[in-house]
Amino acid sequence: MTKIRAAVFPVAGRGTRFLPATKASPKEMLPIVDKPLIQYAVEEALEAGATKLVFVTGASKRSIEDHFDVDVELERALESGGKTDLLGLVKGIVPAGVDCIYIRQGVPLGLGHAVLCARGAVGAEPFFVHLADDLIYSQTACLEQMRAHYERHGCSVLGVEPVPHSQTGSYGIVAVGESREGASPVSRIVEKPAPEDAPSDLAVVGRYILTPAIFDKLASTERGAGDEIQLTDAIARLLDDETVHAFQFLGKRYDCGSKLGYLRATVEYGLRHPELGAGFRDYLASLRD
Ligand code: G1P
Repeated sequence: MTKIRAAVFPVAGRGTRFLPATKASPKEMLPIVDKPLIQYAVEEALEAGATKLVFVTGASKRSIEDHFDVDVELERALESGGKTDLLGLVKGIVPAGVDCIYIRQGVPLGLGHAVLCARGAVGAEPFFVHLADDLIYSQTACLEQMRAHYERHGCSVLGVEPVPHSQTGSYGIVAVGESREGASPVSRIVEKPAPEDAPSDLAVVGRYILTPAIFDKLASTERGAGDEIQLTDAIARLLDDETVHAFQFLGKRYDCGSKLGYLRATVEYGLRHPELGAGFRDYLASLRD
């Protein structure tokens, strides 16, 4: 079994659902309490064993590169000020032995095109795709749960969860065949079907393990929904040649691309925060009075 080394983070999207906050700043840099969304994403991929982080970026996304770069001036200031805890926090963002690679997606042709842009950096190996908007809280990182499943079955794996039927138009939706040994083979996948056309209520959230065969499929996939090259359409074509599993992870997902989802995540991560949780809980309780 080939070990998964690369994690692809498509971060070129403009985050229009979150304007005006995202006019000049990347949506992936929005913090949940004290960490930007993209750092949660990277931490999840690191927990799953990734050692090559491939960011597919676009205009106005430079602060993502800065966040994962060494800041010598800041480190010196923290060191001379004796702020060792903060220094450790800043230095630990990217552990030693992990490479960050940045690729510009020059044209906004969608998620499928973004993943195809990462082909040269990933090579002919299976890889993770992580969409930072979908923040997942879990005991074991979602990608790590999926990696363990991949190790057992050796095929592409899609992170899925049931969504309200009325919301199928916001997701890639899968139909699955009969489950065997905890594995549900995908029989069909459709990008953002209207509820009346949806083959099920099982939505793909932003977690994928893909075999490198997806790259040839992406390279020959025509523009689909939204006039973009859809990863979902390429996965649909991969089904002709390979098994793909839908994997229902254990954890709670927050759609941080929407303002309400972002607020929910902020409140719940705030309540869970080791230093802030108790005080924040008291504050929320005081609001009820
Ligand atoms: C993308 C994918 C979609 C998937 C979703 C998960 O859509 O195209 O298949 O279900 O992410 O968040 P987007 O939300 O970027 O429109």
